[in-house]
Amino acid sequence: MQGRNADDDWWRHAVVYQVYPRSFADADGDGVGDVAGIRSKLPHLAALGVDAIWISPWYPSPMKDAGYDVSDYRDIEPVFGTLAEADALIAEAHEAGIKVIIDIVPNHTSDQHVLFQRALAAGPGSPERDLFIFRDGRGAGGELPPNDWQSTFGGPAWTRVADGQWYLHLFTPEQPDVNWRSPAIRAEFETSLRFWFDRGIDGFRIDVAHGLEKDWALPDLNGLEFPLEDDAEHDHPHWDQPRVHDIFREWRTVADEYSPSRAFCGEIWVGRAHRLVAYLRPDELHTAFNFDFLTAPWLPGDLRAVIDRTIDSHASVGAPPTWVLGNHDVARPVSRYAREQQGLVKMARNLVHFEGRPADFELGLRRARAAALLMLALPGGAYVYQGEELGLPEAEHIPVEALQDPVWVQSNGTDKGRDGCRVPLPWTASGTSYGFSPAGGAAPWLPQPDDWAPLAADAQDGVEGSTLELYRAALGLRRELAAFGDGDFAWLDAPDGVLAFTRPGRAGEPGVRSWTNFGPDAVALPEGEVLLASGPLAGVMLPPDTTAWLRA
Ligand code: GLC
Repeated sequence: MQGRNADDDWWRHAVVYQVYPRSFADADGDGVGDVAGIRSKLPHLAALGVDAIWISPWYPSPMKDAGYDVSDYRDIEPVFGTLAEADALIAEAHEAGIKVIIDIVPNHTSDQHVLFQRALAAGPGSPERDLFIFRDGRGAGGELPPNDWQSTFGGPAWTRVADGQWYLHLFTPEQPDVNWRSPAIRAEFETSLRFWFDRGIDGFRIDVAHGLEKDWALPDLNGLEFPLEDDAEHDHPHWDQPRVHDIFREWRTVADEYSPSRAFCGEIWVGRAHRLVAYLRPDELHTAFNFDFLTAPWLPGDLRAVIDRTIDSHASVGAPPTWVLGNHDVARPVSRYAREQQGLVKMARNLVHFEGRPADFELGLRRARAAALLMLALPGGAYVYQGEELGLPEAEHIPVEALQDPVWVQSNGTDKGRDGCRVPLPWTASGTSYGFSPAGGAAPWLPQPDDWAPLAADAQDGVEGSTLELYRAALGLRRELAAFGDGDFAWLDAPDGVLAFTRPGRAGEPGVRSWTNFGPDAVALPEGEVLLASGPLAGVMLPPDTTAWLRA
């Protein structure tokens, strides 16, 4: 392990790169990414300078929700490879100084999981059914769902089985929610955590961490919206239930048995900062994604407020902030930032909400690059979603026949869903599917846009000013200078429309200042050596939508 990555607190400052295995690299030529593909690209990740990778679910799965429907938590999906290959990947990543985090999906299993199949077979009232959330329906013949809860992807959250009972699924019908009040479920997941910790993984990203507990009275929502208002005194019946914290306290004791320390990162969409950081108390999760930052429009006032709120709330529990611009569920930052930002209350997760706002992709890329440097200079850890280092935009024109995300069907064709950010990566400007698959391989599982050749990794490699070289330089400086990562932060006085802050130096080293210009005109930078800039500077002038790092 190299440098700061070797210490027990690695998760307090790590840059974690998200690998979406279906779309990262395809070694066997079937048009779907695989573990061998990830292994083959470890040199790319090491050269990029990331501290860790987070691998989206790689377990056996019927793929009704791209692997977030898990049928066996202790094996590898055959399309992706084998357990032996996963072991090899973990060992090779560690040799390259890269930690490995994998995804655990505890809110629901696949309907093909053996426990759900047994529950179906065992019938109403059986102990097997108690591992999931089965209820009788309402109405004279039980023909109505037990309550009015809706699936996140659209439609009712209940499906009826042959014997007349209904089961709960907050996502697709093929993803039955499990019953976290069941000791057998708790034991089952603990066994899976240990299975992977024992194989050497360094942590878990926890899917839908805020969803595991439910209000067991199963009350109707009656139109109750989530996230709740900041000052709401009631709870939501199926998101962010207070008892969920007991589960993560149990998980933390498991992680703490291991050395070096294993870490958790929660996917927690709760909107409210004080509710988010409740999950980050010292005996619960280590970190959580900062979706408040991801959803903030590219406007200095909004971003400044989010940064303040994040730093203050995380400090209140002693947790490091994290920062994130994208993942496999949200439209890529280049395409979000390509649209007019004024008047956006929250940056939408997908592009449906930008309708009527024309896109300027050059502007979007300039802002995404500026946002990357801004984010990487903030205190704490950061997440980079595969392809961000190439400046990929959202693939907005996938033909509807090619769409795979269940959101498209479940929303009755009103929402194209998340496929646009899941398109296989372009590695080479020429060759089969831009080098995603080997020569002569099958067509990629999602079609790639035909204008991506200039964005391919090999087209940017060694090219001054390319987005790939920008990320490499930024991550290199982050590793080199102690001022970055977890630590102190202070705003600096700056002209209107500029966000400027300092990260004080440590151990006798000088600190770093970051300046981002959101205004329409170039502004003069203060004196000092420029370490890196997200775009060309005009002498001492910082152009619009550009970030510069300066030595303090
Ligand atoms: C999380 C995942 C998303 C998935 C959902 C259900 O939000 O990030 O991709 O569809 O959980 O598992």
